[in-house]
Amino acid sequence: MEENAEIYRPSPVVVEAANIKEYNQLYKYSVENREDFWAEQAEKLFWHKRWDKVLDDSRKPFYKWFVGAKTNIISNAIDRHLATATRNKLAIIWEGEPGDVRTFSYHALNREVSQMANILKAMGVQKGHIVTIYMPQVPEQVFAMLACAKIGAAHSVVYGGFSHEALAERINDAKSRVVLTADGGFRRGKPTQLKEIVNKALEHTPTVEVCITVRRTGQETFMENDRDYWLHDLKALPIASPRCETEVMDAEDMLFLLYTSGSTGKPKGLVHTHGGYQVYTSTTHRMAFDIKDEDRFWCAADPGWITGHSYITYAPLINGSTIFLYEGAPNHPYPDRWWKMVEKYGINILYTSPTAIRGLMRFGESWPKKHDLSGLRLLGSVGEPINPEAWKWYHRLVGGGNCPIIDTWWQTETGGFMICPLPITPLKPGSATRPFFGNEIAVVDDHGVEVQPGHEGNLVIKNPWPGMARTIFNDPERFRKTYWERFESQGWYHPGDSAKMDKDGYFWIIGRSDDVLKVSGYRLGTAEVESALVGHPAVAEAAAIGLPHELKGNSIHCFVLLKTGAAPSRALEDELKKQVADQLGAIARPEEVHFVESLPKTRSGKIMRRVLRAQALGQDLGDISTLEE
Ligand code: PRX
Repeated sequence: MEENAEIYRPSPVVVEAANIKEYNQLYKYSVENREDFWAEQAEKLFWHKRWDKVLDDSRKPFYKWFVGAKTNIISNAIDRHLATATRNKLAIIWEGEPGDVRTFSYHALNREVSQMANILKAMGVQKGHIVTIYMPQVPEQVFAMLACAKIGAAHSVVYGGFSHEALAERINDAKSRVVLTADGGFRRGKPTQLKEIVNKALEHTPTVEVCITVRRTGQETFMENDRDYWLHDLKALPIASPRCETEVMDAEDMLFLLYTSGSTGKPKGLVHTHGGYQVYTSTTHRMAFDIKDEDRFWCAADPGWITGHSYITYAPLINGSTIFLYEGAPNHPYPDRWWKMVEKYGINILYTSPTAIRGLMRFGESWPKKHDLSGLRLLGSVGEPINPEAWKWYHRLVGGGNCPIIDTWWQTETGGFMICPLPITPLKPGSATRPFFGNEIAVVDDHGVEVQPGHEGNLVIKNPWPGMARTIFNDPERFRKTYWERFESQGWYHPGDSAKMDKDGYFWIIGRSDDVLKVSGYRLGTAEVESALVGHPAVAEAAAIGLPHELKGNSIHCFVLLKTGAAPSRALEDELKKQVADQLGAIARPEEVHFVESLPKTRSGKIMRRVLRAQALGQDLGDISTLEE
């Protein structure tokens, strides 16, 4: 595909407006003087005390950044703006699915966050505690994250689409005492039952003493005495003062942990910290999205994923942008809901996923054409490789042919963009282009030797960067093993993606090379799906694989070996699909469940998913010398 990819050069208008007009020289400087480059970016922020050392690499791979510095990300995301004209600028414009609108200036945001911070303190939350947040897309979700950070507590946001089992597992791993939630949110015209899910989860979470609920939908929900409080009741009490001191933290103190799927059944809580993360996210956002003071920035992800953490909540607020948030489904009540809001609010930058674009594409060209989208200046993409067809549709119909597409490759673990263009970068549809400043990235074979341009290999990152996750919560050894063991002698980070680099140094991401799946841009472990299946009394063994899907990128296909006595049936197939959806959330619902007589295994008993996949796709089975039967 890449050999003859079309090249889209930026228009003179884009180049004229761009804050950074040259990539190569600055890139060279940034990798040759990495610590200076990052120190210069860090100097744009406020620090309670300056760092003694930019990078401490004495305990690889447990790197530390801005060592000795005192800071709090809230000092930069909110406090700093209150002393400038940004104080009265809009920080958040939010539209609910039914069409209700709420707006908050930076001044108002500070009051909301301070109130929530004081409530958390009154509930006994202290510096170092971990608060779990399980919310729909309402402004309070963002306030809750910021409130935790403000008082030095870490947040663990669990995506509101996850099941009660998944929620309970994450609460227990983090040992949260306090959970923040809402009665529900609106999705396709209907209220979701969020608090009911929390109620079920809290039957299995011995550490939780307090649950605070936002009233969003007004539906009836069970509230347990001495555990459950409505946020609006607490806000009316004297404890909820709108003034609160921001806690001064060490640069390396934990800001949040965020669970993501890996190749085993147990989700990993990746730890991010105040200092490096604020520098990395704000720099990547400012440079790649060429942020101007007047921008209205819409990252259409859920705040519950890393994209929402970095590019809804933190980076745009640090950069003093106005962010837009929308609660519901993109096609409700009609497929032009997004385009209507882009026009209505004068959005300048839209950042979304290939799955969302493909989903809106299928309704045809007439929907975006009904609206004046000329206020858009830049478009972004994230979460999975974008197919050139979707790229071109996005570029032509949404961007009017004038907006560069900033395709950003990164991960929960990286904190921010690792490979992405700048607005001035010539683009090739489907390629995330070149490394972000400071990063040396390569495609190598299993021995760490760089492969020829155009050949597939392992993507590796050769250097530390300030936004990198510091560890896996409670499991530093798993952190080392998962990401650093593969290329240990070289000291490279191994993200688990396979990729190609072309002769121009452009990266083309192919997909995950491990047992992780990207379904509609969501990350799932095959092992999680398999253990949900094996939890069913009729199932002896199961294997899950991803197969290409037109809309979702990948969909889940399961192969199930039944216990003796159990018989395959349509009803059982549906039951198994439901079992997975109930345990992991609706996004994990398998596309198909196939009943089989045996599963391909190695002699040591490992299921060879690769063989199942090749078979399903009618491909050559490859090396099957280790196959037992
Ligand atoms: O496979 C890559 C894919 O998403 C993975 C990371 O998933 P997650 O931690 O959930 O973070 C998603 C949002 C940052 C990567 O290992 N991925 C992410 N962005 C891209 C991508 N694949 C291709 N192109 C991208 N732009």
